Amino acid sequence: MRSRVALVTGGGSGIGQGIALALAAQGHRVAVLDRVEEAARAVADEIREAGDAAVAVCADVSDPGQVERAVAEIGEAFGAVEILVNNAGFAKDNHVLDMPLEDWDAVVDTHLRGAFLFLKATAPAMRAVGWGRVVNISSISAIVDDERVNYVAAKAGLEGLTRAAALDLAPVGITVNAVGPGVVVTRMTEVSAARAGRTLEEHLKHQAKGIPRGRTGTPHDIARAVLFFTAEDADYVTGQVLYVSGGPHG
Ligand SMILES: NC(=O)c1ccc[n+]([C@@H]2O[C@H](COP(=O)([O-])OP(=O)(O)OC[C@H]3O[C@@H](n4cnc5c(N)ncnc54)[C@H](O)[C@@H]3O)[C@@H](O)[C@H]2O)c1
Repeated sequence: MRSRVALVTGGGSGIGQGIALALAAQGHRVAVLDRVEEAARAVADEIREAGDAAVAVCADVSDPGQVERAVAEIGEAFGAVEILVNNAGFAKDNHVLDMPLEDWDAVVDTHLRGAFLFLKATAPAMRAVGWGRVVNISSISAIVDDERVNYVAAKAGLEGLTRAAALDLAPVGITVNAVGPGVVVTRMTEVSAARAGRTLEEHLKHQAKGIPRGRTGTPHDIARAVLFFTAEDADYVTGQVLYVSGGPHG
């Protein structure tokens, strides 16, 4: 297995943490990027303690200056990014008519603008060597969900970006795909549970009822799909969205 330089945004927690650990276990050198510095550090330390290579990077993915600086920092530590996982994100849910503009902007800027900024900052080096892998973390909510118009629009946009960028980058050896998780137990689930007025346990039981597989997902479930798209020879699959949600459901 060839060791590549991988960057996971939002790698300090939840799904991103699971993806960072899985890529490191494959022998890749992993940049764990998060806007919460201690979170990125803790995951990078966990990877190094397991004997693999990692660096922690603190940046807000929606800020172009911080994105440029982060890519330069990773370049100094490991070299050019070859595997990019755009995972950073959060939800700020509300009914469409009660959605403040700042919550619309904050969610769209992190999920969509952030993915675009990191693609622009890393793809030229991938093009130069004729190999690159980009995986965007979408959601089954990209199709539809109630009281989260900002999140649904951002994830639908991210899937559009995935297909369009895949077309532009296919001739130069870069694949661009998306993984769309269903309900995965992370800090984000705790926020959803609180908003629904349930304890986390009640919320998970409630959610699991509607999932054909009968359970909620884990970061490891999502990381499995990311490893498929980032494999050395996964050259002929691009512009695709793979939903990892325990079976089709709304
Ligand atoms: N948990 C789920 O059920 C679920 C389902 C579908 C999709 N997702 C998606 O998975 C991704 C990861 O979510 P999670 O559930 O692991 O949440 P999480 O809150 O556990 O982790 C998200 C991480 O992203 C970081 N982050 C947020 N905004 C950032 C920014 N602007 N710049 C840098 N870092 C930032 C946070 O600090 C946090 O460490 C998100 O894109 C989310 O939309 C989650």
